[in-house]
Amino acid sequence: MSTNFVNGTAPRALPLVGHAIPLMRRPVEFLDSLPAYGDLVEIRLGPTRAYVPCHPELLRQVLMEDRVFDKGGPLFDRLRDIVGNGLGSCPHRDHRRQRRLLQPAFHRARLQHYADVMEQESTVLTESWQEGQVIDAFPVLYGFALRTATRTLFTAHVDDGDVETIQRSFETALGGLFQRMFLPRAWQRLPLPANRRYQQALDHLHGRVDRIIADYRRGGQNHGDLLSMLMSARDEDGGATLNDDEVHDQVITMLFGGSETVAANLTWTLYLMSRHPEAARKVHEETDAVLEGRPAGWSDLPELPFTNRMITESLRLYPPAWLYTRITASQVELAGRRLEPGTTLVISPPVVHRQASVHADPTDFSPDRWLPDRTADLPRGSFATFGAGARKCIGDAYALAEATLALATIANRWQVECDPGTDVRPSTLATVMHPRRLHLRLARRTTKTARHNARRGPS
Ligand code: HEM
Repeated sequence: MSTNFVNGTAPRALPLVGHAIPLMRRPVEFLDSLPAYGDLVEIRLGPTRAYVPCHPELLRQVLMEDRVFDKGGPLFDRLRDIVGNGLGSCPHRDHRRQRRLLQPAFHRARLQHYADVMEQESTVLTESWQEGQVIDAFPVLYGFALRTATRTLFTAHVDDGDVETIQRSFETALGGLFQRMFLPRAWQRLPLPANRRYQQALDHLHGRVDRIIADYRRGGQNHGDLLSMLMSARDEDGGATLNDDEVHDQVITMLFGGSETVAANLTWTLYLMSRHPEAARKVHEETDAVLEGRPAGWSDLPELPFTNRMITESLRLYPPAWLYTRITASQVELAGRRLEPGTTLVISPPVVHRQASVHADPTDFSPDRWLPDRTADLPRGSFATFGAGARKCIGDAYALAEATLALATIANRWQVECDPGTDVRPSTLATVMHPRRLHLRLARRTTKTARHNARRGPS
C-alpha cells in the first residue's frame, strides 16, 4: 500500500546544478546511495526538482501508468531534437497507433531474418581482429551494433559511407545530449562551436536518412527489411500508413535505440568475462560444443542458455538505459506524496537492481541467478532493463538475440583480457552507461575453432 512507502530527499544539492555533479561523475555511487533516503527520493536535475522511485513496486507503477507518467521531462525534451516524435519519444496520445504499426516488424519470424544480418556482422567483426591486438571495446562494438542496426533497417541503398556518416553524426549529437539536459534552452541557441557541431551533426543525420528513404520510395521494391516494413505498415483497417516524416522519425529512433544500448551491453559482458575466469570457461565450453568454429546463428540460440544468462546478468548489473525521465500529465499520488502536473520523475534501473532487498548479494556477478527455477520469487519490477508496460522496449528480443549471438561468436574464437589503460568507471555524460575505456587484449583460441579452420584449409 502506498501509505507504507517512505518519502525522502537526497542531501547536498547545489544551487543551479543540483545533483548534476555526483550524477555525472560517480553515477553508480550516487544512485546506490538513494534507497537509504526512502522509497521515493527527491533529487535535483540542475534546477529541476525530480523524484526517483527506488522501490521496485513504485518503479513499476510509474512505468505501467504511461498515461499519467507520460514521456517528457529534461531527457526526452532534448532527445526529440534527434529522434523527433518517434515511437520511443512520442507522448501517450500518439503512442498506441505507432506501436500497432511497428509491432509486426518485431515479430519472431522477422527476428529470424534479422539474425542473419547479426550472424554476418559478427563474422566480419571477429575476422577483422588480429592475434595480440588491443581493442577499445565500446567504440568497436558500437560500430558493430550500428552496422547491424543499419543493415537490418535498410538492406539496400546504403554503403559504408552512409554507415560512417550516421555513426559520426550520432556520436556528436549524443555526446552533447546529457549536458543539454542540465542547461537552459536559451544556451543552445548561442553561436558556440559546440552548438554548431551539434546542429551540423543533426543536419547530416537527418539529411542522410531522408535520402535513403527517398531512394526506397523511388525504387518501390519491398526488400524485406525493417524500412520496407515501416513503409508498408498499415492500420488494422488497412487504412492509414506512416508518412515520410513519420518513417524518418522511426528510422532514427530504431538506429538510436538499437545501437549504443547493445554495444554497451556487449562491452560490459566482455569486461565481466575478463574478470570472471570461471564464467568465461563456461561460455567457452558451451560455444565450443554448439558452434565448433562456425558463427552463431538463429537456430543456435536455444543451445546457448549460459551465454544468454551472462547477457542477462550483465544487463542487471549495468543496465545501458540507466537514466531517463517522465513528466506527470495530471495530478497524481505516488508513495503517499501528491505530485502536481508537470512534475519530473527519474527512472533509473540500477537503483532497484542493486538493492539487497530485491536481489540476493546484489553486487555479485552471478549468471546462474537467472536459472528458471531461481527467478520465480523475484518481486515485480525487479528487472527493469527494458522498461515495462506499454512503453517496454520493442527491441528487447532483438537485442537479446544480437548480444547472445555476438558474444557466442566472439567467445568461440577469441579469449579476452583487460589491458593496462582500462578505466571501467562509467563514462561521464553518456546517454547509455558504458565504461570509459575497456582495453581488451585478444588471443585467438586454439580449440575447436582452430581445428575447424585448419580442416577447411586456407580460404
Ligand atoms: C540491450 C539493449 C537495449 C536496452 C537496454 C533497451 C532499453 C530500452 C528501454 C529501457 C526502453 C523504455 C524507455 C522508456 O520507457 O522511456 C526502450 C524502449 C525502446 N527501445 Fe530499447 N533497448 C535496447 C535495445 C533496443 C533495440 C535493439 C531496439 C530496436 C531495434 C530498440 C528500440 C526501442 C524502441 C523503439 C523503444 C520505444 C518503445 C515504445 O515506447 O513503445 N531498443 N528500450
